Amino acid sequence: MMIIVEKSLRSDLAKISSEVSEAVKYLEMGEVIGIPTETVYGLAGNALNENAILKIFEVKNRPKFDPLIVHVASLEQAKNFVKEFPANAMQLAKQFWPGPLTLLLDKKPNIPDLLTAGSQRVAIRIPNHPLTRQMLNQLDFPVAAPSANPFGYVSPTTAQHVADQLGDKIPFILDGGPCEVGLESTIIGFEAEKPIIYRLGGIKQEDLEACVGRVKLNLNLSSNPLAPGMLKSHYAPIKKIVVGKVTELVAKYQQKKIGIISFKDDFSHLNGSTQIILSRQGDLNEAAKNLFGALREMDQSEVDLIITQRFPEEGLGKAINDRLRRASS
Ligand code: TXA
Ligand code: MG
Repeated sequence: MMIIVEKSLRSDLAKISSEVSEAVKYLEMGEVIGIPTETVYGLAGNALNENAILKIFEVKNRPKFDPLIVHVASLEQAKNFVKEFPANAMQLAKQFWPGPLTLLLDKKPNIPDLLTAGSQRVAIRIPNHPLTRQMLNQLDFPVAAPSANPFGYVSPTTAQHVADQLGDKIPFILDGGPCEVGLESTIIGFEAEKPIIYRLGGIKQEDLEACVGRVKLNLNLSSNPLAPGMLKSHYAPIKKIVVGKVTELVAKYQQKKIGIISFKDDFSHLNGSTQIILSRQGDLNEAAKNLFGALREMDQSEVDLIITQRFPEEGLGKAINDRLRRASS
Protein backbone atom coordinates (compact mmCIF):
# COMPACT_ATOMS: atom_id res chain seq x y z
CA MET A 1 0.00 0.00 0.00
CA MET A 2 1.26 3.43 -0.82
CA ILE A 3 1.07 6.00 1.94
CA ILE A 4 0.66 9.51 0.65
CA VAL A 5 2.06 12.08 3.02
CA GLU A 6 0.70 15.55 2.46
CA LYS A 7 3.34 17.98 1.28
CA SER A 8 2.92 20.37 4.21
CA LEU A 9 3.09 17.49 6.68
CA ARG A 10 6.22 16.23 4.96
CA SER A 11 7.88 19.63 5.29
CA ASP A 12 6.81 19.83 8.96
CA LEU A 13 8.40 16.45 9.59
CA ALA A 14 11.57 17.52 7.80
CA LYS A 15 11.71 20.68 9.88
CA ILE A 16 11.24 18.74 13.12
CA SER A 17 13.92 16.24 12.28
CA SER A 18 16.37 18.98 11.32
CA GLU A 19 15.70 20.75 14.63
CA VAL A 20 16.26 17.55 16.56
CA SER A 21 19.54 17.06 14.64
CA GLU A 22 20.57 20.56 15.57
CA ALA A 23 19.89 19.86 19.25
CA VAL A 24 21.96 16.67 18.97
CA LYS A 25 24.80 18.59 17.34
CA TYR A 26 24.94 21.20 20.13
CA LEU A 27 24.85 18.56 22.86
CA GLU A 28 27.62 16.60 21.18
CA MET A 29 29.70 19.80 21.13
CA GLY A 30 29.30 20.08 24.91
CA GLU A 31 26.86 22.99 24.64
CA VAL A 32 23.87 23.62 26.90
CA ILE A 33 20.44 24.05 25.25
CA GLY A 34 16.72 24.26 26.09
CA ILE A 35 14.68 21.09 25.54
CA PRO A 36 10.97 20.28 25.88
CA THR A 37 9.68 17.57 28.18
CA GLU A 38 6.13 16.65 29.12
CA THR A 39 6.62 18.28 32.55
CA VAL A 40 8.57 21.52 32.04
CA TYR A 41 11.37 22.68 29.73
CA GLY A 42 14.85 21.53 30.70
CA LEU A 43 18.29 23.12 30.43
CA ALA A 44 20.15 20.23 28.87
CA GLY A 45 23.78 19.17 28.63
CA ASN A 46 25.86 16.00 28.32
CA ALA A 47 25.51 14.34 31.75
CA LEU A 48 28.94 12.71 31.46
CA ASN A 49 30.81 15.89 30.53
CA GLU A 50 31.90 17.99 33.53
CA ASN A 51 32.25 21.15 31.47
CA ALA A 52 28.70 20.85 30.21
CA ILE A 53 27.49 20.25 33.78
CA LEU A 54 29.37 23.34 34.99
CA LYS A 55 27.76 25.37 32.21
CA ILE A 56 24.30 24.26 33.35
CA PHE A 57 24.99 25.44 36.92
CA GLU A 58 26.35 28.71 35.58
CA VAL A 59 23.50 29.48 33.15
CA LYS A 60 20.90 28.72 35.84
CA ASN A 61 22.87 30.48 38.54
CA ARG A 62 22.31 27.35 40.58
CA PRO A 63 24.33 26.49 43.69
CA LYS A 64 26.53 23.43 43.16
CA PHE A 65 25.04 21.65 46.15
CA ASP A 66 21.81 21.19 44.16
CA PRO A 67 22.10 18.02 42.01
CA LEU A 68 20.72 17.53 38.48
CA ILE A 69 18.30 14.97 37.02
CA VAL A 70 19.63 12.61 34.33
CA HIS A 71 17.41 11.90 31.30
CA VAL A 72 17.79 8.68 29.35
CA ALA A 73 16.18 7.11 26.28
CA SER A 74 15.38 3.69 27.75
CA LEU A 75 15.36 1.48 30.81
CA GLU A 76 18.31 -0.40 29.29
CA GLN A 77 20.29 2.83 29.13
CA ALA A 78 19.31 3.72 32.71
CA LYS A 79 20.85 0.45 33.89
CA ASN A 80 24.26 1.66 32.67
CA PHE A 81 24.21 4.40 35.29
CA VAL A 82 22.58 2.91 38.38
CA LYS A 83 23.83 0.02 40.49
CA GLU A 84 20.50 -1.71 40.72
CA PHE A 85 16.79 -1.23 40.56
CA PRO A 86 15.09 -2.42 43.76
CA ALA A 87 11.94 -4.43 42.90
CA ASN A 88 9.67 -1.47 43.71
CA ALA A 89 11.72 0.87 41.55
CA MET A 90 11.56 -1.54 38.63
CA GLN A 91 7.82 -1.82 38.96
CA LEU A 92 7.44 1.97 39.00
CA ALA A 93 9.79 2.39 36.04
CA LYS A 94 7.89 -0.21 34.03
CA GLN A 95 4.57 1.41 34.76
CA PHE A 96 5.40 5.11 34.51
CA TRP A 97 8.36 5.47 32.10
CA PRO A 98 8.45 7.31 29.84
CA GLY A 99 6.71 9.84 32.06
CA PRO A 100 6.90 12.40 34.86
CA LEU A 101 8.55 10.10 37.42
CA THR A 102 12.13 10.54 38.64
CA LEU A 103 13.76 7.71 40.59
CA LEU A 104 16.58 8.31 43.07
CA LEU A 105 18.87 5.28 42.84
CA ASP A 106 22.43 4.34 43.77
CA LYS A 107 24.69 5.61 41.03
CA LYS A 108 27.48 3.86 39.21
CA PRO A 109 30.89 5.62 39.24
CA ASN A 110 30.45 6.77 35.60
CA ILE A 111 28.00 9.45 36.80
CA PRO A 112 30.14 12.46 37.79
CA ASP A 113 30.00 13.50 41.46
CA LEU A 114 29.61 17.07 40.22
CA LEU A 115 26.22 16.12 38.74
CA THR A 116 24.91 14.58 41.98
CA ALA A 117 26.53 17.23 44.21
CA GLY A 118 28.58 14.50 45.85
CA SER A 119 25.63 12.23 46.62
CA GLN A 120 25.92 8.53 45.86
CA ARG A 121 22.39 8.58 44.50
CA VAL A 122 21.41 9.81 41.06
CA ALA A 123 17.99 11.12 40.03
CA ILE A 124 17.00 9.57 36.70
CA ARG A 125 14.01 9.49 34.35
CA ILE A 126 12.81 8.82 30.81
CA PRO A 127 10.90 11.92 29.70
CA ASN A 128 7.81 11.55 27.57
CA HIS A 129 8.10 14.07 24.78
CA PRO A 130 8.40 12.90 21.18
CA LEU A 131 11.13 15.37 20.13
CA THR A 132 13.24 14.86 23.21
CA ARG A 133 12.89 11.10 22.93
CA GLN A 134 14.06 11.28 19.30
CA MET A 135 16.96 13.40 20.47
CA LEU A 136 17.92 11.05 23.31
CA ASN A 137 17.79 8.11 20.91
CA GLN A 138 20.37 9.78 18.69
CA LEU A 139 22.82 10.51 21.51
CA ASP A 140 25.31 8.09 22.95
CA PHE A 141 25.26 9.77 26.37
CA PRO A 142 22.51 10.67 28.87
CA VAL A 143 21.36 14.26 29.29
CA ALA A 144 21.42 16.26 32.53
CA ALA A 145 18.57 18.75 32.70
CA PRO A 146 17.24 20.87 35.52
CA SER A 147 14.22 23.03 34.77
CA ALA A 148 15.27 25.82 32.40
CA ASN A 149 14.69 28.78 34.74
CA PRO A 150 16.99 30.90 36.87
CA PHE A 151 17.42 29.18 40.26
CA GLY A 152 14.41 29.66 42.52
CA TYR A 153 12.05 30.97 39.84
CA VAL A 154 8.96 29.36 38.31
CA SER A 155 9.71 26.53 35.82
CA PRO A 156 9.15 27.24 32.09
CA THR A 157 6.36 25.46 30.23
CA THR A 158 6.91 26.95 26.76
CA ALA A 159 9.98 27.59 24.61
CA GLN A 160 9.16 31.30 24.86
CA HIS A 161 9.44 31.16 28.68
CA VAL A 162 12.96 29.75 28.26
CA ALA A 163 13.87 32.35 25.65
CA ASP A 164 12.58 35.18 27.87
CA GLN A 165 14.97 34.38 30.71
CA LEU A 166 17.87 32.37 29.29
CA GLY A 167 17.69 33.15 25.58
CA ASP A 168 20.87 35.19 25.49
CA LYS A 169 22.87 32.62 27.48
CA ILE A 170 22.23 29.53 25.36
CA PRO A 171 22.70 28.89 21.63
CA PHE A 172 19.53 26.88 20.95
CA ILE A 173 16.07 25.96 22.24
CA LEU A 174 14.27 22.93 20.82
CA ASP A 175 10.66 24.09 20.58
CA GLY A 176 8.28 21.24 21.36
CA GLY A 177 5.19 23.34 22.06
CA PRO A 178 3.56 23.86 25.47
CA CYS A 179 4.28 21.16 28.08
CA GLU A 180 1.45 18.66 28.48
CA VAL A 181 1.76 18.20 32.27
CA GLY A 182 3.06 21.60 33.35
CA LEU A 183 4.43 20.51 36.75
CA GLU A 184 7.86 18.97 37.41
CA SER A 185 8.26 15.21 37.78
CA THR A 186 7.42 13.36 40.98
CA ILE A 187 10.67 12.33 42.71
CA ILE A 188 10.76 8.98 44.50
CA GLY A 189 13.58 7.46 46.52
CA PHE A 190 13.79 4.31 48.61
CA GLU A 191 14.68 3.66 52.21
CA ALA A 192 15.03 -0.02 53.07
CA GLU A 193 13.31 -0.65 49.71
CA LYS A 194 10.28 1.39 50.82
CA PRO A 195 9.29 4.11 48.35
CA ILE A 196 9.32 7.70 49.62
CA ILE A 197 8.08 10.75 47.73
CA TYR A 198 10.61 13.59 47.94
CA ARG A 199 8.79 15.89 45.53
CA LEU A 200 5.14 15.80 44.54
CA GLY A 201 4.78 16.23 40.80
CA GLY A 202 3.28 15.10 37.54
CA ILE A 203 2.32 11.58 38.69
CA LYS A 204 -0.59 11.40 41.09
CA GLN A 205 0.17 9.91 44.49
CA GLU A 206 -2.97 7.78 44.07
CA ASP A 207 -1.53 6.20 40.90
CA LEU A 208 1.82 5.53 42.56
CA GLU A 209 0.10 3.85 45.48
CA ALA A 210 -2.02 1.72 43.16
CA CYS A 211 1.30 0.43 41.78
CA VAL A 212 3.45 -0.12 44.90
CA GLY A 213 1.17 0.31 47.91
CA ARG A 214 1.32 3.09 50.48
CA VAL A 215 4.06 5.63 49.84
CA LYS A 216 5.46 7.91 52.55
CA LEU A 217 6.00 11.61 51.95
CA ASN A 218 9.21 13.37 52.89
CA LEU A 219 8.91 16.80 51.39
CA ASN A 220 11.80 18.06 53.44
CA LEU A 221 11.22 21.64 54.33
CA SER A 222 14.46 21.81 56.28
CA SER A 223 17.43 23.94 55.36
CA ASN A 224 19.47 20.93 54.31
CA PRO A 225 17.07 19.31 51.93
CA LEU A 226 17.55 16.06 50.09
CA ALA A 227 16.02 17.76 47.08
CA PRO A 228 16.67 21.50 47.19
CA GLY A 229 13.70 21.98 44.86
CA MET A 230 11.96 21.28 48.13
CA LEU A 231 13.39 24.39 49.78
CA LYS A 232 10.56 26.16 51.49
CA SER A 233 10.75 29.19 49.26
CA HIS A 234 11.15 28.04 45.68
CA TYR A 235 9.21 27.93 42.42
CA ALA A 236 8.40 31.54 43.23
CA PRO A 237 7.29 34.45 41.06
CA ILE A 238 8.78 37.87 41.78
CA LYS A 239 5.46 39.35 42.87
CA LYS A 240 4.17 38.56 46.32
CA ILE A 241 1.67 35.73 46.33
CA VAL A 242 -0.88 34.82 49.00
CA VAL A 243 -3.00 31.67 49.18
CA GLY A 244 -6.40 31.47 50.90
CA LYS A 245 -10.04 32.42 50.55
CA VAL A 246 -10.14 34.71 47.53
CA THR A 247 -13.06 36.90 48.65
CA GLU A 248 -11.52 37.52 52.09
CA LEU A 249 -8.06 38.19 50.68
CA VAL A 250 -9.39 40.63 48.09
CA ALA A 251 -11.15 42.53 50.89
CA LYS A 252 -8.02 42.50 53.03
CA TYR A 253 -5.74 43.85 50.29
CA GLN A 254 -8.13 46.38 48.75
CA GLN A 255 -5.42 49.01 48.24
CA LYS A 256 -3.27 46.74 46.10
CA LYS A 257 -3.40 46.03 42.40
CA ILE A 258 -4.59 42.48 42.68
CA GLY A 259 -4.25 39.58 40.27
CA ILE A 260 -6.39 36.52 41.01
CA ILE A 261 -5.42 33.02 39.90
CA SER A 262 -8.37 30.74 40.55
CA PHE A 263 -9.04 27.06 39.95
CA LYS A 264 -12.45 27.20 38.27
CA ASP A 265 -14.48 30.02 39.81
CA ASP A 266 -14.99 33.41 38.26
CA PHE A 267 -14.14 36.26 40.66
CA SER A 268 -14.17 39.00 38.05
CA HIS A 269 -17.02 40.78 39.88
CA LEU A 270 -14.55 41.54 42.70
CA ASN A 271 -12.63 44.79 42.55
CA GLY A 272 -12.21 44.78 38.76
CA SER A 273 -8.93 42.94 39.21
CA THR A 274 -6.99 40.94 36.66
CA GLN A 275 -8.01 37.31 36.75
CA ILE A 276 -6.81 34.00 35.31
CA ILE A 277 -9.04 30.94 35.67
CA LEU A 278 -6.89 27.82 35.35
CA SER A 279 -9.67 25.41 34.35
CA ARG A 280 -13.27 26.46 33.86
CA GLN A 281 -14.29 22.81 33.86
CA GLY A 282 -12.57 22.22 37.19
CA ASP A 283 -10.06 19.77 35.72
CA LEU A 284 -6.97 19.54 37.94
CA ASN A 285 -4.78 18.30 35.06
CA GLU A 286 -5.73 21.32 32.98
CA ALA A 287 -5.13 23.61 35.97
CA ALA A 288 -1.66 22.08 36.49
CA LYS A 289 -0.82 22.62 32.84
CA ASN A 290 -1.75 26.31 33.05
CA LEU A 291 -0.40 27.19 36.50
CA PHE A 292 3.20 28.24 35.78
CA GLY A 293 2.23 30.22 32.69
CA ALA A 294 -0.33 32.08 34.81
CA LEU A 295 2.28 32.95 37.47
CA ARG A 296 4.58 34.29 34.76
CA GLU A 297 1.78 36.29 33.18
CA MET A 298 0.98 37.89 36.53
CA ASP A 299 4.66 38.70 37.04
CA GLN A 300 4.70 40.53 33.72
CA SER A 301 1.46 42.39 34.36
CA GLU A 302 0.72 45.52 36.36
CA VAL A 303 -0.50 43.68 39.45
CA ASP A 304 1.48 43.96 42.67
CA LEU A 305 -0.11 41.10 44.59
CA ILE A 306 -1.17 37.66 43.36
CA ILE A 307 -4.08 36.11 45.23
CA THR A 308 -4.81 32.43 44.78
CA GLN A 309 -6.66 29.65 46.54
CA ARG A 310 -6.01 26.19 47.88
CA PHE A 311 -6.80 23.43 45.42
CA PRO A 312 -8.59 20.15 46.21
CA GLU A 313 -6.04 17.82 47.91
CA GLU A 314 -6.42 15.08 45.32
CA GLY A 315 -4.73 14.08 42.06
CA LEU A 316 -2.44 16.84 40.80
CA GLY A 317 -4.12 19.22 43.28
CA LYS A 318 -1.61 18.06 45.92
CA ALA A 319 1.37 19.04 43.80
CA ILE A 320 -0.29 22.35 42.85
CA ASN A 321 -0.83 23.15 46.56
CA ASP A 322 2.79 22.22 47.27
CA ARG A 323 4.07 24.64 44.60
CA LEU A 324 1.75 27.43 45.75
CA ARG A 325 2.89 26.95 49.34
CA ARG A 326 6.51 27.30 48.30
CA ALA A 327 5.83 30.18 45.93
CA SER A 328 4.13 32.05 48.77
CA SER A 329 6.68 31.49 51.54
O1 TXA B 1 10.22 17.37 35.52
C1 TXA B 1 11.38 17.50 35.89
O2 TXA B 1 11.87 16.81 36.79
C2 TXA B 1 12.23 18.56 35.19
C3 TXA B 1 12.43 18.12 33.73
C4 TXA B 1 13.35 19.05 32.97
O3 TXA B 1 12.90 16.80 33.71
N1 TXA B 1 13.46 18.74 35.86
C5 TXA B 1 13.55 19.33 37.08
O4 TXA B 1 14.84 19.44 37.53
O5 TXA B 1 12.59 19.72 37.70
P1 TXA B 1 15.25 20.44 38.70
O6 TXA B 1 16.71 20.37 38.74
O7 TXA B 1 14.66 21.76 38.48
O8 TXA B 1 14.67 19.75 39.96
C6 TXA B 1 15.22 18.52 40.35
C7 TXA B 1 15.13 18.31 41.81
C8 TXA B 1 15.95 19.30 42.60
O9 TXA B 1 15.19 19.69 43.72
C9 TXA B 1 17.16 18.48 43.01
O10 TXA B 1 17.64 18.90 44.24
C10 TXA B 1 16.60 17.08 43.08
O11 TXA B 1 15.68 17.01 42.05
N2 TXA B 1 17.65 16.07 42.86
C11 TXA B 1 18.32 15.83 41.71
N3 TXA B 1 19.26 14.89 41.90
C12 TXA B 1 19.19 14.52 43.19
C13 TXA B 1 19.91 13.60 44.00
N4 TXA B 1 20.92 12.88 43.51
N5 TXA B 1 19.55 13.50 45.30
C14 TXA B 1 18.54 14.25 45.80
N6 TXA B 1 17.84 15.14 45.09
C15 TXA B 1 18.14 15.28 43.82
MG1 MG C 1 13.76 23.42 39.03
